[in-house]
Amino acid sequence: MRVGIWGGSGFVGGELLRILLRHPDVEVTYVASKEHEGEYIHRVHPHLRGISGLVFGAYDAGIASSKCDALFVAVPFKQALQDVPRIVSSGIRLVDLSPAYRLRNPDDYLPHYKIVHPQPTVLADFVYGLPEVNRNEIKGSTKIANPGCLATAALLAVKGFVETMEQTGELIIDAKVGSSGSGSKASPLNTHAVRYGVVRAYKLGNHRHSIEISSYLCNHHLEHVHVSFSAHGVNMVRGILVTAYLTLKEPLSEGEVWKILRQTFAEEPFIRFIKDRSGGFRLPDPKLTLGSNFCDIGFELLPDGRHLILVSALDNLVKGAAGNAVQCFNLMNGIKEDTGLNLIPIYPA
Ligand SMILES: NC(=O)c1ccc[n+]([C@@H]2O[C@H](COP(=O)([O-])OP(=O)(O)OC[C@H]3O[C@@H](n4cnc5c(N)ncnc54)[C@H](OP(=O)(O)O)[C@@H]3O)[C@@H](O)[C@H]2O)c1
Repeated sequence: MRVGIWGGSGFVGGELLRILLRHPDVEVTYVASKEHEGEYIHRVHPHLRGISGLVFGAYDAGIASSKCDALFVAVPFKQALQDVPRIVSSGIRLVDLSPAYRLRNPDDYLPHYKIVHPQPTVLADFVYGLPEVNRNEIKGSTKIANPGCLATAALLAVKGFVETMEQTGELIIDAKVGSSGSGSKASPLNTHAVRYGVVRAYKLGNHRHSIEISSYLCNHHLEHVHVSFSAHGVNMVRGILVTAYLTLKEPLSEGEVWKILRQTFAEEPFIRFIKDRSGGFRLPDPKLTLGSNFCDIGFELLPDGRHLILVSALDNLVKGAAGNAVQCFNLMNGIKEDTGLNLIPIYPA
């Protein structure tokens, strides 16, 4: 298939290129950038030198639809809201990596994104694309809203336990994320001098990704569970570590927790369980997922059997963005799900 990237000069665009340029069933025929139009992609993504002679082109839905069978959209939220309708009307299949079409309920955009969604009826046309949660819906769709990176890590951590979680009370989710999570554009808060060495709590209690987590819980009749979600920028370039604190309805044994995890993620190509009794790597660590599409999951069960701490780790630019988007693209197009995604993490990094 011929594919293109709308917003190819950003961090996510670069990861899409890294993956798609080695995907055996696709040819990248179009990469759009305003700032770098006419330049070779390796001028912006220097690690891709010698891999491809592609040149950035202009943003043009007509060109995109004539050159591509599918388009990955990797521009900021408000830009996606402006651009996606033009792309959709050209009839092309698309995976949008921005939050523009992720929420099912248009009313949720005002409290969480501070806008009235300009195309509320279009939201229903998009499928939330997290294969471990709704693979079958993705298979039948032509428009995917790729999940938020922190939401992906959180949802995959708790997914197995929605049936066993207490139906009221609190779910505490603490997330740490590397600096690439904020994109490649400079701001006063992400210069090296200011960003280096930080552990910075931000958007406590009102992070945009928390609505994706609560919506998922509502779908499982857990609307009375209060989600306390906190995010922290930490001193990594890539990676997310989520720690989720759950109270269970009934006590479980460690063996039962393992059984639930194995049943929940049976045959999942990108979920690994990390819970070793010895050695230095006993629980998930984002550093051990870098460059890969893995989400690593581990846990600790407290002695009372009712308090479960789940930990998940992934690379925000891969399973949290480009890798998951390609996984969805494969499913949408009847391509084997892991094609192009058998990326072994790099270590040490
Ligand atoms: N970074 C992550 O970990 C992550 C994870 C999941 C999802 N996402 C989502 O993926 C999308 C891309 O994220 P990113 O991290 O790649 O961001 P980024 O590094 O800032 O790149 C975004 C690109 O969009 C283009 N763009 C087009 N219109 C723009 C506008 N009005 N303002 C700013 N840039 C504009 C820019 O390229 P030109 O100016 O060259 O056209 C820019 O390189 C965002 O919607 C983000 O929320 C990011």
